Amino acid sequence: MKFRLTLAALAMFPASAVLAQDCTAYTAEDPFDLTEAEIVGFYDCLKDRMAEGYGAEGDAVGSVYRDWTITQTAPGLAGVHGNRLLITFANDIAAEQYTQYAEDIEMPVGSILAKESITLSSKRQAARPGPLFVMTKLEEGGAPETDDWLYAGVQPNGKVMNIKQSFCHDCHVAYDYQDNLGYPLEEVRLSQ
Ligand code: HEC
Repeated sequence: MKFRLTLAALAMFPASAVLAQDCTAYTAEDPFDLTEAEIVGFYDCLKDRMAEGYGAEGDAVGSVYRDWTITQTAPGLAGVHGNRLLITFANDIAAEQYTQYAEDIEMPVGSILAKESITLSSKRQAARPGPLFVMTKLEEGGAPETDDWLYAGVQPNGKVMNIKQSFCHDCHVAYDYQDNLGYPLEEVRLSQ
């Protein structure tokens, strides 16, 4: 019976739609119960859709960040950005300094960090693309209230998010000893 249903589903939908449905099913009560393989599975399943979505409206970061340096070995899980899987990309200006994950630093002007997110919803029982979070280091004095960082966000459909600088910065300022950067979780950092 189950077998026949599967065949019927395959006949009705293009293969990719069937696969996408299967591989985003999310049932864990607690995201911290996910195994590394499950986390990587969600990412593999959604990564093409994410990049297409963030770039869909031609956003200056959303359409190019995938060519940048990946700053971690695997998607990390973070509570502070919600129930999300996160992976951060650094542009050429930022990459070398960022991947030292060092304290007492000042990121070079023009640094851009773009963080993909996958939202895990036990209510919807699905993993789906979340926003692309972006930080850009402006020239000195460019944004005195946020240590010259400009915060931005791109929705999964490519539209720019409406965000308040203070909302992002009030949390990031907790890391002011490393130029307001939170860095990926230690277990997914690149080895030095
Ligand atoms: C409640 C705290 C909190 C808030 C609010 C917050 N962030 Fe973050 N952010 C973090 C932490 C912690 C990290 C590092 C963890 C990770 O990426 O795995 C991080 C990482 C980032 C990164 C990757 C660069 C880095 O810091 O290592 C970007 C880009 C980013 N956030 C953008 C934003 C934007 C844009 C907003 C507002 C829409 C925002 N964040 C709001 C805590 C926060």
